[in-house]
Amino acid sequence: MNIFKIAVFTKNKNKLFRKTFDQKDDEIVENISENKNKTKNNLKSKNNKINKYFEPFIGGGAFFFYLVSNYNIKEAYLYDINRELILTYNVIKNDVEELINELLALKNSYLPKDDDERKEFYYDIRNKFNEDVSTFNFENYSDKHIIRGAYTIFLNKTCFNGLFRLNKKGEFNVPIGRYKNPAILDVENLRNVSKALKIAKIYNKSFLESEDLIDENSLVYLDPPYRPLNKTSNFTSYSQNEFTDNNQIELGAYFKRIISKGAYAILSNSDPKNEDKNDNFFDDLYSDYDIRRVKAKRFINRNANKRGEINELLIKNY
Ligand SMILES: C[S@@+](CC[C@H](N)C(=O)[O-])C[C@H]1O[C@@H](n2cnc3c(N)ncnc32)[C@H](O)[C@@H]1O
Repeated sequence: MNIFKIAVFTKNKNKLFRKTFDQKDDEIVENISENKNKTKNNLKSKNNKINKYFEPFIGGGAFFFYLVSNYNIKEAYLYDINRELILTYNVIKNDVEELINELLALKNSYLPKDDDERKEFYYDIRNKFNEDVSTFNFENYSDKHIIRGAYTIFLNKTCFNGLFRLNKKGEFNVPIGRYKNPAILDVENLRNVSKALKIAKIYNKSFLESEDLIDENSLVYLDPPYRPLNKTSNFTSYSQNEFTDNNQIELGAYFKRIISKGAYAILSNSDPKNEDKNDNFFDDLYSDYDIRRVKAKRFINRNANKRGEINELLIKNY
């Protein structure tokens, strides 16, 4: 279950960024869960502490949806600075049936068309989406949010490679994709996602603003924009803003602070040692914690030779 199957907001030119969480899922809940039986478990620490789940960089939410499907989570707090993403999640949470109606209308208009007509329709929706960007009221929830959320999903499903890339002005600039039968509307999935989001408070805020709510009963999973492996890799930037080394350092300090409050915290990131054995950036930043290197099939690369496994970091305090 999730809406944005291929992680949503990528800016890089020749790579898509696909989360393959399966192998990490169990590691993240390992040591915390009382038993790993996948039906209706309570997500509890061995001493029954955890009752809140935080994901300060929610993105496509792969792990959150995994967790909700397999464990009994009562309260979740999700953050992302991408306002279109958060708007869409809030629409799915609050008004899923209206959203389904909007998407049904888009689907019924789009699918019967031939290629040229589809093109015209796609760019028309993209223009409407972009015309509003500077004036749209993201703060006060209204019916306009439902239409914008429907456009976001429509564009994500019909654009090239399922990307959702915004330029500096916040305009969506991905060309039309070549899917014959794109899954513009998946009613069952949307209803499931809506149900999962009901337990969540969803904020269009920086990760830093989650700090006040985190306490010793919290599990915090941090999946920030990954640090580029090399300067030329033109790495993923999930929103209009870059996530710099200074931001990574800021996140390291935040990690320390939430742990000193007693939280269970786990963070994933790229492993600089894939490219440079002497790069100790994260080993130094997180030297007080358990640093695991796990294999991940990270990239879908046009160049087949460059596909394959690399290490990623999982850093945790428990
Ligand atoms: C690697 S993605 C998360 C991927 C997600 N776990 C998934 O399964 O798709 C990083 C996310 O962090 C968000 N982000 C970037 N800077 C942020 C910040 N300062 N505070 C909160 N979110 C931020 C981006 O918009 C993006 O959605």
